[in-house]
Amino acid sequence: MNPRSPRSQFCKAALAAVALGVMFGLGDRPGYAETLDQMKAHYRRPPPTAPENRALAALGRELFFDPIISASGRTACATCHRPELGFAANEARSPTDSGRPTARKTQTLLGIGHARPPFDWDGRHATLEAQAVSAIGVGSMSMFATPHEVKVDDIIARVRKNEGYVAKFARALPGAPINLDNVVIALAAFERTIEPGIAPFDRWIKGEEAAIPESAKRGFVLFHTRAGCSACHRGWRFTDDQFHDVGSTTTDRGRGRELKHDPKMQFAFKTPTLRSVALRAPYLHDGSARTLREVIALYVKGGIDRDSRSPMINPIDLTEQDRDDLVAFLETLTGEGEAK
Ligand code: HEC
Ligand code: HEC
Repeated sequence: MNPRSPRSQFCKAALAAVALGVMFGLGDRPGYAETLDQMKAHYRRPPPTAPENRALAALGRELFFDPIISASGRTACATCHRPELGFAANEARSPTDSGRPTARKTQTLLGIGHARPPFDWDGRHATLEAQAVSAIGVGSMSMFATPHEVKVDDIIARVRKNEGYVAKFARALPGAPINLDNVVIALAAFERTIEPGIAPFDRWIKGEEAAIPESAKRGFVLFHTRAGCSACHRGWRFTDDQFHDVGSTTTDRGRGRELKHDPKMQFAFKTPTLRSVALRAPYLHDGSARTLREVIALYVKGGIDRDSRSPMINPIDLTEQDRDDLVAFLETLTGEGEAK
């Protein structure tokens, strides 16, 4: 870079600002004492994880897209976890197999193989397998709360009758029976292969300067420093896999429904990854924010001041330009080739 170019001047100014932050005692805020290269180093991707058993993951993929594992035979996992929307949905609540809407917004499954359990917005499932048992048996894939009960055994019988599946199970899990346990083992094996696609942001992190616009670069620095976002949206998946109350107006107690006596867990939800976030509006567990701008407006206000609200959530002063920059940054996280 030409040392006299405007961009170089901007970078020097940014570094001076970081140094000032340290001098004024802001050093405890994440990232304040770091250079841009140090900040970027926190977001480098690990190599994709290869499935231990390819045949099993391929079988799980087929089941994930197949409505025969729902009670009515009309709903697939992919009906809600849509690959072209970052394995999420673009409605606040999606119709379940029973016709009733889901209680919460469909979560994205991007990068789920790297996520720390427990799963769901409220962490009510300890493993991906347990999550799938519940989706098929009593949740989104079942006709719960309707008179048309279909037993899980009947669903498994459909899989057993399908010659294609019989051959694929035999290859993936030689000698193992086709039962619910093995169906969810296959589903989970596939889910662990759902890697976020390479995004313009990743190419920038690897050194391709022109991969993202200047506004997004400013947004990244804000995200990692003054706006405090990286306190929770940490690392290359942009999540700490923890539960926090961000102070939204929700009446859903989230993790607090599981941990009734933990005052910090009331209204707390699992930090979502921000990978491909621009694809899956509306946002938050209840879909109450229509746009990324609306999510940022919530953080500017600092949300509702209540005992459970995270100490990392405080009102922040962001200009219109800052908000545009943050959105521009979030838009660079959209991965390519996720809907294969
Ligand atoms: C009708 C829509 C719908 C269908 C069908 C559906 N899901 Fe989901 N899924 C959701 C919603 C909504 C959540 C969040 C649930 C909550 O927190 O209350 C979710 C959460 C999840 C999670 C937790 C993600 C995380 O980050 O913790 C996994 C894993 C998952 N679903 C996998 C599946 C699988 C596998 C299937 C098929 C067997 C399936 N889903 C079918 C809507 C759906
Ligand atoms: C205290 C931890 C914490 C901090 C700090 C934080 N977030 Fe979040 N973020 C969360 C949690 C938890 C959710 C889910 C909340 C919900 O659904 O009610 C969330 C949701 C989001 C979403 C919606 C994603 C989706 O899939 O629906 C976006 C976008 C987002 N945050 C961006 C940011 C930005 C930008 C900042 C900085 C201004 C920030 N976050 C700061 C924890 C945090």
